[in-house]
Amino acid sequence: MDNNYEFAQGLTYEMDKRIEEAYGKDVAYVWNNLKFFNTLPKGDGEGIITGDCGDTVEIFIKVKDNIIEDISYWTDGCIATIVCGCVACGLALGKTLEEAECISGEDVLKQLPSIPDSHKHCAHLVCSALHEAIGDFYKKNR
Ligand code: FES
Repeated sequence: MDNNYEFAQGLTYEMDKRIEEAYGKDVAYVWNNLKFFNTLPKGDGEGIITGDCGDTVEIFIKVKDNIIEDISYWTDGCIATIVCGCVACGLALGKTLEEAECISGEDVLKQLPSIPDSHKHCAHLVCSALHEAIGDFYKKNR
């Protein structure tokens, strides 16, 4: 096995360990099974929000027959935001627009109970971007 591969594996292991120590097993699990990150370059609806912390989240939705049939997000934010984005997209996929509008930061936090209080706002930021994306879809399809 080449040295670069072993070095990269060591770094990945160390990062995973630190994420689990800092945030908990639930966050580490999502981090290691990330979906929806930057998978859709454009959507039928797009929401972009920058939080008070200065981090930005974008969500793109593809809608067919009032159902979110595909969804993607991007963020320059923290690890909590990255995993919250994944969970929020997972919750919204396959839902009607009305159902997805009701997804809240609290719903995301229920799936990620070890997110520390100092990062709970990240879940709310992600859901605001989701709601913006739904609003943008409505605006474009009136
Ligand atoms: Fe800014 Fe997580 S979104 S700290």
